[in-house]
Amino acid sequence: MDNPQGRDFHGISTPRGGSYNSFLIEDKSPTIIDGTNDVFFDAWIGSLKERIDPSKIRYIVVNHAENDHTGALPTILDACPKAEVLCTKTGSEILKAAYGIERVRVVSDREEINIGKRTLQFFVTPMVHWPETMMTWIPQEKMLFSGDLFGTEVSHESMWADEMKDLEILTRDYATLVIRPFAHAAIKGIDKAIELRPDHLFPTHGPLYRDDISGIISYYDKLMRKPEEDKVLIAYASVWHETQKMAEEIAKGVEEKGSKVVLVDVFKENMVKIMAESLTSKAVALGSLTIIGCYHPIFEAVIPFLKLNAQKGKKTAVFGTHGWSPCSVAKLKEKMEGIGYDVIDTVDLRFGKGEDFNRLKEIGNMLGGVKLE
Ligand code: FEO
Repeated sequence: MDNPQGRDFHGISTPRGGSYNSFLIEDKSPTIIDGTNDVFFDAWIGSLKERIDPSKIRYIVVNHAENDHTGALPTILDACPKAEVLCTKTGSEILKAAYGIERVRVVSDREEINIGKRTLQFFVTPMVHWPETMMTWIPQEKMLFSGDLFGTEVSHESMWADEMKDLEILTRDYATLVIRPFAHAAIKGIDKAIELRPDHLFPTHGPLYRDDISGIISYYDKLMRKPEEDKVLIAYASVWHETQKMAEEIAKGVEEKGSKVVLVDVFKENMVKIMAESLTSKAVALGSLTIIGCYHPIFEAVIPFLKLNAQKGKKTAVFGTHGWSPCSVAKLKEKMEGIGYDVIDTVDLRFGKGEDFNRLKEIGNMLGGVKLE
């Protein structure tokens, strides 16, 4: 189902909308793979009826029980009275708890079900993105239905990724929040996809992949294993431009080392964007003004987002300004160390002035000089 007007998904900014892919396999036992959210049921059932009488549907595969793919499932089951849900054991528990659904057949890892000319084979992949997740493989077609893995939150400008442009940042932002916090699990799913060598890769979000699917697999692989690029994120909260000027001075030092700078005003940027830029930067600098003896409370939103990707040891500088109570920088340093970032230097300036201003470019040099592994 297409959602071109959607501008937010799980807090991710989605300037080109969203989509929730649901597939019909027309075979002796007609099968639906992945569903949709309740608000899209009318459009979904309308599309289905254009192809088949819903009473003929035999199976509904639930690769992932989250609401965007199952919110309409109770109504879908009413419309498809002979259909049986196929899902993992944990999936069955979630569907019962969330919707009271019991018309379920539990499938196990590698189990196969013949639907006519084709076979469905299931690969259990817990925690991609929830504990019940699995992928479905049709070997005769070399089709892999991968759930949230390999998705992009974007509307169906085309059904096929090779007919769409500029998807990388959309994929990055979606994957950073939805998949990367479970990287250890996602890597197993990626390895399974590499092993299966599909010709068609069908995630639950965004465009579909055909023929050359190596690009999306390798991009996800990079985000999960080694996301850092030769750039430094400098994120700051500033009211009277003093902390902003410190950020810009650090940026000069980074650029002197030939690295790219991503300068972000945290008051103006989406949290998931900041999270994604931190994930893909080799080092970061965070700066804050002081308010009531502390850093600006917006960092109480930023830092938990950074924590989701737990990039322990990431080289970090902390800087900021104060008028009469020099404690925002020390507290922000403590907070960043608390999530495992390696704070290599700090600068705290009264009203943004003082000799230490001259150290900011050196700090930028240090961050820009961090070597990519
Ligand atoms: Fe697309 Fe985790 O739901």
